[in-house]
Amino acid sequence: MADSNNNNTLKIGLAGFGNVGAGVYKNLLKNGALLRERTGQNLIIHRIVVRDPDKPRDIDLPAGIVSTRLDDLVKDDEIDIVIELIGGTDYAFDLVKSALENGKTVITGNKALLAEHGKELFAIADREKTPIYFEAAVAGGIPIIKTVQESLVGNSIESMAGIINGTSNYILGRMSDAGLAYEEALNEAQQLGYAEADPALDVNGWDAAHKAIILASLSYGSWVRSEDIFVEGIEKISLADIRVASDLGYTIKLLAIIRLDTESGNIEVRVQPSLIPKNHILASVNGVFNAIFVRGDIVGETLFYGSGAGQDPTSSSVISDLADAAAHLGSGAASRTGFVPHGLYGHPLPIDESISQYYLRLSVDDQPGVLARISGILGEHHIGISSMIQPEEHCEGAASIFLMLYFAPFGTMKKAVAQIAELDCIQDEPILMRVESL
Ligand code: HSE
Repeated sequence: MADSNNNNTLKIGLAGFGNVGAGVYKNLLKNGALLRERTGQNLIIHRIVVRDPDKPRDIDLPAGIVSTRLDDLVKDDEIDIVIELIGGTDYAFDLVKSALENGKTVITGNKALLAEHGKELFAIADREKTPIYFEAAVAGGIPIIKTVQESLVGNSIESMAGIINGTSNYILGRMSDAGLAYEEALNEAQQLGYAEADPALDVNGWDAAHKAIILASLSYGSWVRSEDIFVEGIEKISLADIRVASDLGYTIKLLAIIRLDTESGNIEVRVQPSLIPKNHILASVNGVFNAIFVRGDIVGETLFYGSGAGQDPTSSSVISDLADAAAHLGSGAASRTGFVPHGLYGHPLPIDESISQYYLRLSVDDQPGVLARISGILGEHHIGISSMIQPEEHCEGAASIFLMLYFAPFGTMKKAVAQIAELDCIQDEPILMRVESL
């Protein structure tokens, strides 16, 4: 990218040249003139820090632009903006902290970093009066951060239900539509560049959980701690679950639920695979797409939909942050530093108190009396059965039972399932999922 001597030039230090970093570079080249018209600034990538400078890359970088030292970004007085796309929480934390302390505006797409260290980093940003922008941290190309911070600022956010991990949505979709095994669908998602470097975070729910923490914290004005939320992934979902749910009129999605109980002020934050009615708008969010269904007390229901992962959509969000940073730096005015604490709300709701309907899959001995023992335990806990399926199977001595259960507190449900799991007629770990009416 050519350098410039123009006074209206902002120099950028880019840390990380993986999928998204390369996308930012490529798309700044592509739409540089448009951005210059819109922001009044030349946005120039001045230095790129990579781990391995000799790694073969699709993009030829100008000689002298590449470095392997993060200090070359934070200690360079010419650099105005540091974009952190290295991921992880160790080096990334040091980089963001040091960049802020050196007066550099920070842009990051690192949801794990903000979920774990947001409170501390935004305190530093406030102290240094230097902003952090993070549109790319949640839902790839969907502008949900600015939506919550700006467009819905006059609303009390009543709830959000989000499909905010593209990889798991892609996997569930491929299992459902093509009958692929879980591993095959995961491999495809990795080949397509949707999964995190460590895909465990995608499938165990924590990538979505980091994003949910950021959304809940922005909505409710105090940092939600990861130990206060409940997270489950999609690893145990089988093709049988997907088929039975479908026969019953449901689709399985990894859902992030963020909900304010207006009476107690308590906040419910959880990520779980859930059955949702096929006719709900979120059920038609397929592939790597994300969607966040937001209910505000003034605006009512809104839906934000788009590509939740991938090079171009995520770099679009980073570039939108660059435009904000350019507007702020160009005006010289003080601006908000990224997170506005207001702490109007109460404590996280203990997960055991959250109430929903459930789906339960049991692998059992195919013997007389088994159903009676299971329904007896559910009855003891006052959990009603709304429907039950036992498909005819040709597996000697074994059967699968699928139960749909009425509303119950999660704590009660867990106790009942633990008791059922202890029965000598139960062959495998029971699989419990929420049924969300949304
Ligand atoms: N791996 C993430 C996803 C993309 O699949 O949604 C970036 O958050």
